[in-house]
Amino acid sequence: MASRQGLSRKGIILAGGTGSRLHPMTVATNKHLLPIFDKPMIYYPLTTLMLAGVREFLVITNPHHVPAFRDLLGDGSDWGISISYAEQPRAGGIAEALLIGSDFIAREPFGLILGDNIFFGHGLPELLERASATAGAGGAVLTYRVADARRYGVLVTDREGNAQDLIEKPEEPPPSNRAVTGLYFYAADAVEVARSLAPSARGELEITDVNRALLRAGRLSAFEIGRGHAWFDAGTAEALAQASTYVEILQRRQSTGVAFPEEVAFRQHLIDLDRLAVLTERMPDSRYRSYLRMLVREERGG
Ligand code: DAU
Repeated sequence: MASRQGLSRKGIILAGGTGSRLHPMTVATNKHLLPIFDKPMIYYPLTTLMLAGVREFLVITNPHHVPAFRDLLGDGSDWGISISYAEQPRAGGIAEALLIGSDFIAREPFGLILGDNIFFGHGLPELLERASATAGAGGAVLTYRVADARRYGVLVTDREGNAQDLIEKPEEPPPSNRAVTGLYFYAADAVEVARSLAPSARGELEITDVNRALLRAGRLSAFEIGRGHAWFDAGTAEALAQASTYVEILQRRQSTGVAFPEEVAFRQHLIDLDRLAVLTERMPDSRYRSYLRMLVREERGG
Protein backbone atom coordinates (compact mmCIF):
# COMPACT_ATOMS: atom_id res chain seq x y z
CA MET A 1 0.00 0.00 0.00
CA ALA A 2 2.66 2.47 1.06
CA SER A 3 4.63 2.09 -2.14
CA ARG A 4 1.69 3.01 -4.39
CA GLN A 5 2.33 6.03 -6.58
CA GLY A 6 1.36 9.41 -5.19
CA LEU A 7 0.73 8.41 -1.59
CA SER A 8 2.45 10.40 1.13
CA ARG A 9 5.05 8.32 2.91
CA LYS A 10 5.93 11.26 5.12
CA GLY A 11 3.79 12.74 7.85
CA ILE A 12 3.98 15.45 10.48
CA ILE A 13 2.18 15.21 13.81
CA LEU A 14 1.76 18.63 15.40
CA ALA A 15 1.75 18.21 19.16
CA GLY A 16 2.76 21.59 20.54
CA GLY A 17 0.57 24.46 21.66
CA THR A 18 -0.24 25.41 25.21
CA GLY A 19 -3.20 23.15 25.93
CA SER A 20 -4.59 26.08 27.89
CA ARG A 21 -8.20 24.96 27.49
CA LEU A 22 -7.30 21.83 29.46
CA HIS A 23 -5.73 23.69 32.40
CA PRO A 24 -4.64 22.41 34.98
CA MET A 25 -4.26 18.99 33.28
CA THR A 26 -1.61 20.48 30.99
CA VAL A 27 0.49 22.31 33.60
CA ALA A 28 2.98 19.48 34.07
CA THR A 29 2.50 17.56 30.84
CA ASN A 30 1.67 17.96 27.18
CA LYS A 31 -1.96 17.69 26.07
CA HIS A 32 -1.14 14.99 23.51
CA LEU A 33 0.20 12.71 26.23
CA LEU A 34 -3.10 12.73 28.16
CA PRO A 35 -5.10 9.52 27.97
CA ILE A 36 -7.91 8.79 25.58
CA PHE A 37 -9.29 5.81 27.49
CA ASP A 38 -6.37 3.33 27.64
CA LYS A 39 -3.61 4.97 25.63
CA PRO A 40 -1.96 8.35 25.09
CA MET A 41 -3.76 10.75 22.78
CA ILE A 42 -0.90 10.84 20.25
CA TYR A 43 -1.35 7.12 19.48
CA TYR A 44 -4.56 8.02 17.65
CA PRO A 45 -3.18 10.50 15.08
CA LEU A 46 -0.06 8.35 14.75
CA THR A 47 -2.04 5.25 13.78
CA THR A 48 -4.35 7.30 11.54
CA LEU A 49 -1.35 8.39 9.47
CA MET A 50 0.12 4.87 9.54
CA LEU A 51 -3.17 3.63 8.06
CA ALA A 52 -2.87 6.32 5.38
CA GLY A 53 0.48 4.81 4.34
CA VAL A 54 2.83 7.17 6.18
CA ARG A 55 6.09 5.53 7.26
CA GLU A 56 8.36 8.48 8.16
CA PHE A 57 7.15 10.74 10.93
CA LEU A 58 8.14 14.10 12.32
CA VAL A 59 6.67 14.95 15.71
CA ILE A 60 6.71 18.69 16.40
CA THR A 61 6.26 19.78 19.99
CA ASN A 62 7.39 22.32 22.61
CA PRO A 63 11.13 22.18 23.37
CA HIS A 64 10.63 20.99 26.96
CA HIS A 65 8.25 18.17 25.95
CA VAL A 66 10.49 16.54 23.33
CA PRO A 67 12.10 14.16 25.90
CA ALA A 68 8.70 12.88 27.04
CA PHE A 69 7.63 12.11 23.46
CA ARG A 70 10.95 10.40 22.81
CA ASP A 71 10.44 8.24 25.91
CA LEU A 72 6.99 7.25 24.71
CA LEU A 73 7.50 6.75 20.97
CA GLY A 74 11.26 6.27 20.55
CA ASP A 75 12.57 6.20 17.01
CA GLY A 76 9.61 4.16 15.73
CA SER A 77 11.70 1.10 14.87
CA ASP A 78 9.62 -1.19 17.13
CA TRP A 79 6.70 -0.46 14.83
CA GLY A 80 8.58 -0.59 11.53
CA ILE A 81 8.45 3.18 11.01
CA SER A 82 10.82 6.08 11.67
CA ILE A 83 10.07 8.95 14.01
CA SER A 84 12.12 12.12 14.39
CA TYR A 85 11.42 15.21 16.45
CA ALA A 86 11.46 18.97 16.02
CA GLU A 87 10.71 21.89 18.29
CA GLN A 88 8.14 24.65 18.04
CA PRO A 89 9.28 27.26 20.59
CA ARG A 90 5.91 29.03 20.77
CA ALA A 91 2.44 28.40 19.39
CA GLY A 92 2.99 30.28 16.15
CA GLY A 93 0.16 28.56 14.33
CA ILE A 94 -0.54 25.26 12.63
CA ALA A 95 0.95 26.37 9.30
CA GLU A 96 4.26 26.99 11.07
CA ALA A 97 4.62 23.18 11.11
CA LEU A 98 5.29 23.37 7.35
CA LEU A 99 8.21 25.74 7.92
CA ILE A 100 9.62 23.78 10.86
CA GLY A 101 9.26 20.57 8.85
CA SER A 102 10.61 21.90 5.53
CA ASP A 103 13.89 19.91 5.64
CA PHE A 104 12.01 16.77 6.61
CA ILE A 105 9.48 17.28 3.80
CA ALA A 106 12.26 17.93 1.25
CA ARG A 107 10.56 17.58 -2.15
CA GLU A 108 7.93 14.97 -1.31
CA PRO A 109 4.19 15.03 -0.69
CA PHE A 110 3.27 14.72 2.96
CA GLY A 111 0.46 14.44 5.49
CA LEU A 112 -0.09 16.76 8.45
CA ILE A 113 -2.26 15.80 11.40
CA LEU A 114 -3.07 17.73 14.55
CA GLY A 115 -2.14 15.73 17.62
CA ASP A 116 -5.58 16.13 19.18
CA ASN A 117 -7.57 14.87 16.18
CA ILE A 118 -9.08 11.43 16.54
CA PHE A 119 -10.71 9.53 13.69
CA PHE A 120 -12.51 6.16 13.65
CA GLY A 121 -14.52 4.29 11.14
CA HIS A 122 -14.73 1.42 8.74
CA GLY A 123 -13.31 2.32 5.34
CA LEU A 124 -11.31 5.25 6.69
CA PRO A 125 -7.93 3.94 5.42
CA GLU A 126 -9.32 3.81 1.87
CA LEU A 127 -10.65 7.37 2.12
CA LEU A 128 -7.31 8.57 3.49
CA GLU A 129 -5.47 6.83 0.66
CA ARG A 130 -7.68 8.59 -1.88
CA ALA A 131 -7.10 11.97 -0.24
CA SER A 132 -3.36 11.32 0.01
CA ALA A 133 -3.15 10.31 -3.64
CA THR A 134 -4.71 13.58 -4.85
CA ALA A 135 -2.46 15.78 -2.72
CA GLY A 136 0.32 15.73 -5.30
CA ALA A 137 -1.78 18.23 -7.26
CA GLY A 138 -1.74 20.70 -4.36
CA GLY A 139 -3.61 19.71 -1.25
CA ALA A 140 -6.51 17.74 0.18
CA VAL A 141 -8.69 18.41 3.21
CA LEU A 142 -11.23 16.15 4.89
CA THR A 143 -14.49 17.59 6.17
CA TYR A 144 -17.01 16.37 8.71
CA ARG A 145 -20.53 17.66 9.38
CA VAL A 146 -20.84 19.13 12.87
CA ALA A 147 -23.48 20.86 14.96
CA ASP A 148 -21.11 23.55 16.31
CA ALA A 149 -19.25 24.74 13.21
CA ARG A 150 -18.12 28.01 14.80
CA ARG A 151 -15.39 26.14 16.68
CA TYR A 152 -13.63 25.08 13.48
CA GLY A 153 -12.44 26.03 10.05
CA VAL A 154 -15.35 25.41 7.65
CA LEU A 155 -15.66 24.63 3.97
CA VAL A 156 -18.26 26.65 2.09
CA THR A 157 -19.67 24.94 -1.00
CA ASP A 158 -22.09 25.87 -3.78
CA ARG A 159 -25.32 23.97 -4.42
CA GLU A 160 -23.49 21.33 -6.42
CA GLY A 161 -21.09 20.76 -3.54
CA ASN A 162 -18.12 22.48 -5.19
CA ALA A 163 -15.71 24.14 -2.78
CA GLN A 164 -16.08 27.95 -2.79
CA ASP A 165 -14.25 29.20 0.29
CA LEU A 166 -12.74 28.30 3.63
CA ILE A 167 -13.40 30.33 6.76
CA GLU A 168 -11.64 29.95 10.10
CA LYS A 169 -14.00 30.03 13.10
CA PRO A 170 -16.93 31.71 11.33
CA GLU A 171 -19.37 33.99 13.09
CA GLU A 172 -22.95 33.02 13.92
CA PRO A 173 -24.73 31.82 11.82
CA PRO A 174 -21.93 29.74 10.24
CA PRO A 175 -22.14 29.67 6.43
CA SER A 176 -21.59 25.91 6.44
CA ASN A 177 -21.63 22.98 8.86
CA ARG A 178 -18.77 21.19 7.13
CA ALA A 179 -15.84 21.45 9.55
CA VAL A 180 -12.37 21.04 8.10
CA THR A 181 -10.73 18.33 10.21
CA GLY A 182 -7.13 18.52 11.35
CA LEU A 183 -5.80 16.10 8.77
CA TYR A 184 -4.31 17.50 5.58
CA PHE A 185 -2.32 16.12 2.66
CA TYR A 186 -0.07 18.40 0.62
CA ALA A 187 2.34 18.57 -2.27
CA ALA A 188 5.84 19.67 -1.21
CA ASP A 189 5.32 23.24 -2.44
CA ALA A 190 2.73 23.89 0.29
CA VAL A 191 5.82 24.90 2.27
CA GLU A 192 6.26 27.86 -0.11
CA VAL A 193 2.61 28.79 0.34
CA ALA A 194 3.09 28.80 4.13
CA ARG A 195 6.24 30.89 3.74
CA SER A 196 4.33 33.57 1.86
CA LEU A 197 1.71 34.02 4.62
CA ALA A 198 1.48 36.87 7.09
CA PRO A 199 0.39 36.03 10.65
CA SER A 200 -3.34 36.43 11.36
CA ALA A 201 -4.86 38.88 13.86
CA ARG A 202 -4.19 36.33 16.64
CA GLY A 203 -0.51 36.22 15.62
CA GLU A 204 -0.55 32.74 14.08
CA LEU A 205 0.24 31.30 10.67
CA GLU A 206 -3.17 29.84 9.85
CA ILE A 207 -3.52 26.52 8.07
CA THR A 208 -6.83 27.83 6.70
CA ASP A 209 -4.84 30.51 4.81
CA VAL A 210 -2.66 27.81 3.21
CA ASN A 211 -5.78 25.88 2.19
CA ARG A 212 -7.52 29.01 0.90
CA ALA A 213 -4.51 29.88 -1.28
CA LEU A 214 -4.55 26.36 -2.74
CA LEU A 215 -8.32 26.54 -3.28
CA ARG A 216 -8.01 29.86 -5.14
CA ALA A 217 -5.34 28.32 -7.34
CA GLY A 218 -7.72 25.43 -8.12
CA ARG A 219 -5.34 23.02 -6.37
CA LEU A 220 -7.36 21.86 -3.36
CA SER A 221 -9.54 18.74 -3.14
CA ALA A 222 -12.09 18.24 -0.39
CA PHE A 223 -13.29 14.84 0.82
CA GLU A 224 -16.24 14.33 3.09
CA ILE A 225 -15.98 11.89 5.96
CA GLY A 226 -19.48 10.44 5.94
CA ARG A 227 -21.91 9.04 8.47
CA GLY A 228 -20.73 6.04 10.35
CA HIS A 229 -17.42 7.65 11.12
CA ALA A 230 -16.47 9.54 14.23
CA TRP A 231 -14.18 12.53 14.48
CA PHE A 232 -13.14 14.25 17.68
CA ASP A 233 -11.01 17.31 18.26
CA ALA A 234 -10.02 16.45 21.82
CA GLY A 235 -9.10 20.03 22.74
CA THR A 236 -11.66 20.40 25.53
CA ALA A 237 -12.40 18.37 28.68
CA GLU A 238 -15.81 17.37 27.26
CA ALA A 239 -14.35 16.12 23.98
CA LEU A 240 -11.60 14.27 25.85
CA ALA A 241 -14.20 12.46 27.97
CA GLN A 242 -16.44 11.73 24.96
CA ALA A 243 -13.58 10.33 22.91
CA SER A 244 -12.52 8.13 25.85
CA THR A 245 -16.04 6.76 26.28
CA TYR A 246 -16.33 6.16 22.55
CA VAL A 247 -13.10 4.14 22.47
CA GLU A 248 -14.09 2.19 25.57
CA ILE A 249 -17.47 1.24 24.09
CA LEU A 250 -15.99 0.21 20.74
CA GLN A 251 -13.27 -1.86 22.34
CA ARG A 252 -15.61 -3.56 24.83
CA ARG A 253 -18.53 -4.26 22.49
CA GLN A 254 -16.51 -5.56 19.60
CA SER A 255 -13.37 -6.66 21.44
CA THR A 256 -11.61 -4.75 18.72
CA GLY A 257 -8.60 -2.52 19.23
CA VAL A 258 -8.56 1.17 18.36
CA ALA A 259 -5.21 2.86 17.69
CA PHE A 260 -2.76 0.23 18.91
CA PRO A 261 0.43 1.06 16.93
CA GLU A 262 1.65 -2.54 17.39
CA GLU A 263 -1.53 -3.94 15.81
CA VAL A 264 -1.56 -1.40 12.98
CA ALA A 265 2.12 -2.14 12.25
CA PHE A 266 1.33 -5.86 12.12
CA ARG A 267 -1.73 -5.46 9.89
CA GLN A 268 0.24 -3.18 7.57
CA HIS A 269 3.00 -5.82 7.32
CA LEU A 270 5.57 -3.54 8.94
CA ILE A 271 6.29 -6.18 11.60
CA ASP A 272 5.59 -9.91 11.61
CA LEU A 273 3.68 -11.99 14.16
CA ASP A 274 6.82 -13.09 16.03
CA ARG A 275 7.88 -9.48 16.46
CA LEU A 276 4.39 -8.54 17.66
CA ALA A 277 4.58 -11.35 20.24
CA VAL A 278 7.99 -10.16 21.46
CA LEU A 279 6.79 -6.56 21.83
CA THR A 280 3.70 -7.76 23.69
CA GLU A 281 5.61 -9.90 26.17
CA ARG A 282 7.93 -7.00 26.98
CA MET A 283 5.02 -4.94 28.32
CA PRO A 284 3.96 -4.86 31.94
CA ASP A 285 0.71 -6.56 32.89
CA SER A 286 -2.04 -4.22 31.67
CA ARG A 287 -5.31 -4.23 29.76
CA TYR A 288 -3.27 -2.93 26.82
CA ARG A 289 -1.08 -6.04 26.88
CA SER A 290 -4.11 -8.33 27.36
CA TYR A 291 -5.58 -7.08 24.11
CA LEU A 292 -2.36 -7.64 22.17
CA ARG A 293 -1.99 -11.11 23.72
CA MET A 294 -5.45 -12.00 22.53
CA LEU A 295 -4.57 -10.75 19.06
CA VAL A 296 -1.38 -12.83 18.92
CA ARG A 297 -3.33 -15.93 20.05
CA GLU A 298 -6.00 -15.37 17.42
CA GLU A 299 -3.45 -14.84 14.66
CA ARG A 300 -1.70 -18.05 15.67
CA GLY A 301 -5.07 -19.73 15.28
CA GLY A 302 -5.40 -20.68 18.93
O1 DAU B 1 -9.39 20.30 14.84
C1 DAU B 1 -9.67 20.93 13.64
C2 DAU B 1 -9.45 22.43 13.69
O2 DAU B 1 -8.10 22.65 14.14
C3 DAU B 1 -9.67 23.07 12.31
O3 DAU B 1 -11.04 22.98 11.96
C4 DAU B 1 -9.24 24.52 12.31
O4 DAU B 1 -9.31 25.02 11.01
C5 DAU B 1 -7.80 24.65 12.82
O5 DAU B 1 -7.41 26.00 12.92
C6 DAU B 1 -7.69 24.00 14.20
O6 DAU B 1 -8.46 24.74 15.12
P1 DAU B 1 -8.24 24.64 16.70
O7 DAU B 1 -8.92 25.78 17.34
O8 DAU B 1 -8.64 23.28 17.17
O9 DAU B 1 -6.67 24.80 16.82
P2 DAU B 1 -5.81 24.75 18.13
O10 DAU B 1 -5.17 26.06 18.32
O11 DAU B 1 -6.62 24.18 19.26
O12 DAU B 1 -4.65 23.69 17.77
C7 DAU B 1 -4.94 22.41 17.29
C8 DAU B 1 -3.80 21.45 17.64
O13 DAU B 1 -2.56 21.88 17.08
C9 DAU B 1 -3.56 21.28 19.11
O14 DAU B 1 -3.43 19.90 19.34
C10 DAU B 1 -2.28 22.01 19.42
C11 DAU B 1 -1.57 22.04 18.09
N1 DAU B 1 -0.87 23.31 17.85
C12 DAU B 1 -1.58 24.42 17.59
C13 DAU B 1 -0.96 25.62 17.34
C14 DAU B 1 -1.76 26.85 17.02
C15 DAU B 1 0.50 23.34 17.88
O15 DAU B 1 1.16 22.30 18.13
N2 DAU B 1 1.14 24.52 17.63
C16 DAU B 1 0.47 25.67 17.35
O16 DAU B 1 1.11 26.71 17.12
